[in-house]
Amino acid sequence: MADKEFDQGKRRFLVAATSVAGGVATGAVAVPFVASMLPSERAKAAGAPVEADITNLAPGEMMRVEWRGKPVWVVRRTTDMLETVKQSDAKVADPKSARKPGELTPPYARNEYRSIKPEYLVVVGICTHLGCSPVDKFKVQAEPFEADWKGGFYCPCHGSLFDLAGRVYKNKPAPDNLEVPPHKFLSDTRILIGDDGTRA
Ligand code: FES
Repeated sequence: MADKEFDQGKRRFLVAATSVAGGVATGAVAVPFVASMLPSERAKAAGAPVEADITNLAPGEMMRVEWRGKPVWVVRRTTDMLETVKQSDAKVADPKSARKPGELTPPYARNEYRSIKPEYLVVVGICTHLGCSPVDKFKVQAEPFEADWKGGFYCPCHGSLFDLAGRVYKNKPAPDNLEVPPHKFLSDTRILIGDDGTRA
């Protein structure tokens, strides 16, 4: 059962070892390097795609990556987690991501799991209501905010709920599903976030 998997694993939240695509270094050396750039180069670096290395991301775990100053979550979903997504279809407001497809869900994520590969969810971790950061609540159990909770994300600011595909529950303040950023798999263990190869 999924619960066991989550509990036993004591899900670690991995801070992503990210790097700006193109070889710009991160950390202390990045500052003088970026500062030495022309303004247009700095802007380009700030908006550049980032790579997420998911080599050590275990089933049931989530890692965070920063892209354009925004938190991006990568969740490796178990088969049980994917099953809860199916079970949530009737609870969510926009199960097929039909609203604002071009803005919030790229074509390759316009499916039930909102992902390229069902196993991996990639979403921007910002509530579509007023911009709070929802909290992960992956365990299937009765919660104060939802008796029949199937696992997902809870926004404590005003009580919006999102399932494990980032789909917003019906009748909540958040008007839309969580945004799926442009992304693509560079290999089985590397995801490029911010560039899906469809834009110039
Ligand atoms: S900001 Fe998330 S519910 Fe209001």
